Amino acid sequence: MKTEINLLTTHPAANRDYNKRAREKTPEIIRIAKKFGKEFFDGDRKCGYGGYKYDGRWKAVAQKMKDHYRLAEDCAILDIGCAKGFLLHDFKELMPNCSVAGIDVSEYAIENAMPTAKPYLKVASAETLPYPDKSFDLVISINSIHNLSLPPLKAALKEVERVSRGHSYITVDAWRNEEERENLYKWVLTAETMMHVYDWKKLFDEIGYTGDYWWFIAD
Ligand SMILES: C[S@@+](CC[C@H](N)C(=O)[O-])C[C@H]1O[C@@H](n2cnc3c(N)ncnc32)[C@H](O)[C@@H]1O
Repeated sequence: MKTEINLLTTHPAANRDYNKRAREKTPEIIRIAKKFGKEFFDGDRKCGYGGYKYDGRWKAVAQKMKDHYRLAEDCAILDIGCAKGFLLHDFKELMPNCSVAGIDVSEYAIENAMPTAKPYLKVASAETLPYPDKSFDLVISINSIHNLSLPPLKAALKEVERVSRGHSYITVDAWRNEEERENLYKWVLTAETMMHVYDWKKLFDEIGYTGDYWWFIAD
């Protein structure tokens, strides 16, 4: 519990041109990206993913989380910021008897979710989760809650604590040195809260977040 651990090591290395993004980024592009609509997921790369498609990369992450947390076959898993439900689809394939749930603020992502995951997904925001206390054995949030400004982000961390009865795992935008900080500021379109890893850890302590964590680092 409360371990800094990378469970996304199997993700393919990203190819990010930070300077190109910084040159192309305009207030209008940021405004469009922050709507988390079609343009962010499946529009031009300038506005977000440039095509958010299932490519199987989450399969290995689901397996790693299952092994690391020793999840039971009938466990309950929540993904906050689940987008089109790729990770939950892979959990369901790996453990057909598990129950999955996902929330995302994006109506577009939920509407265009994988058909296998869609029945388990809801439009909601991370700071108010529509689930009772201690509903899930594992609560996950990958690169999502940093899209909230600090007060709702604190509420979101408390919500993770509230609905988890076991493990939780989050990743957030962070840096460890000046170069990573500069790259991150060039790169991000939507994040509202970004910090040095040291300050994130202080925030986790302040809120009483007891789960595990890792970083989105622009290195
Ligand atoms: C960078 S994407 C990550 C999606 C997915 N977790 C992944 O790693 O592929 C960020 C996601 O957070 C969602 N999001 C943004 N603000 C949110 C909020 N307040 N509550 C829940 N989801 C939010 C966006 O719609 C988007 O799906």
